[in-house]
Amino acid sequence: MNAICFTLNGLPVSYEGSAADRLLEVLRGTYRCTSVKCGCKEGECGACSVLIDGTLINSCCVAMGAVEGASVVTMEGFRETERFSVLEKAFASVSAVQCGFCIPGMVLAAEALLSKCPHPTEEEIREGLSGNLCRCTGYNAIVNAVSIAAKEGKGLW
Ligand code: FES
Ligand code: FES
Repeated sequence: MNAICFTLNGLPVSYEGSAADRLLEVLRGTYRCTSVKCGCKEGECGACSVLIDGTLINSCCVAMGAVEGASVVTMEGFRETERFSVLEKAFASVSAVQCGFCIPGMVLAAEALLSKCPHPTEEEIREGLSGNLCRCTGYNAIVNAVSIAAKEGKGLW
């Protein structure tokens, strides 16, 4: 069986398992990227969100065969960026983190949104985060945080 080669958080990796294995489980189990959370395993909650070639994707819905040659980014990689620092401060400033389970996915959703739309309206933020469920916050604080990050991080996105 050929290894599946891809980039994980900027580093080349080769996965020796089955092409049918689920990206979510491989990221958590093989590569110890435990920021990628397992919520529903059905593509409904966004807790398992990662960026694949810059696009926000639910990793529970991706087979390993599909990541051959791709660039996969999880929070473990994104947290090294300046854009993460801006988002982190913004989330903290409005207490947008409660249990934290949804937050890695929310932050990557915010990154995907701001990369496409650096000056989003509230409606665009809500739309951009709509695939990510939060059972704790009621969403308003998270929406505020993304709005603050867009302003504070002017020029980064
Ligand atoms: S665990 Fe993947 S969307 Fe819920
Ligand atoms: S902060 Fe708990 S699920 Fe969002």
